[in-house]
Amino acid sequence: MDQNALKKMAADRAAEFVEDGMTLGLGTGSTVHYLVEAIARRVQAEHLHIQGVSTSSRTEDQARGLGITMVGIDDVDHIDLTIDGADEIDQHFQGIKGGGAAHTLEKMVALTSAQNIWIVDQSKLVDTLGAFPLPTEVIPFGHTQVERRLAAEGLNPEWRRDDQGQLVTTHNGNYVLDLHVGKIAHPHLLAQFLDAQTGILEHGLFLDIVNKVVVGTPDGTQVLNA
Ligand code: A5P
Repeated sequence: MDQNALKKMAADRAAEFVEDGMTLGLGTGSTVHYLVEAIARRVQAEHLHIQGVSTSSRTEDQARGLGITMVGIDDVDHIDLTIDGADEIDQHFQGIKGGGAAHTLEKMVALTSAQNIWIVDQSKLVDTLGAFPLPTEVIPFGHTQVERRLAAEGLNPEWRRDDQGQLVTTHNGNYVLDLHVGKIAHPHLLAQFLDAQTGILEHGLFLDIVNKVVVGTPDGTQVLNA
């Protein structure tokens, strides 16, 4: 079974957690793409009244195009449930996100949400975080100084570039600096360090956030409670 089939399987299963009347946070990425399709099918078939808050223009455009009502994060007083993808999840349900450069908006939506579900294929489950380069979002002013500071700490920073070699920019017009840190033995300590760095708007360590992980495996979906 290919990875996309496993992603779709997890997304379809997670869509079953959506209930009538919910305000839903919708993440970003290829797995979420399947999720939005699955939710749209339910909205149409079951006449669900839900509204979505998105974490990227990609998700926003897709959801609107499929007839899901979308509202801004500042227009809601709460989010019931957010469903998003992830790049790595360790045994303690800590995660790395931001492979799609949307981690700042994703974290904002996740922290506003009463419940969070992550949807992944089984390759995203790891013993220890860090094989996936840790994304950070850095403001343009002084970005080279931030890079130097992180390099001096041994965090092996690398600017994310597109196919044309141009710096990738986020929704907020900032740059993405990926940290090749290897195994992250103490994610909370690294998060604390990055939180304290002026110039870094947000990083992709999502700690103590997720409530449930839905995993696509060749033997079916697994629902893991954090
Ligand atoms: C977006 O910035 C990321 O956090 C995604 O949620 C993550 O990269 C998972 O993406 P896929 O579903 O495409 O694997």
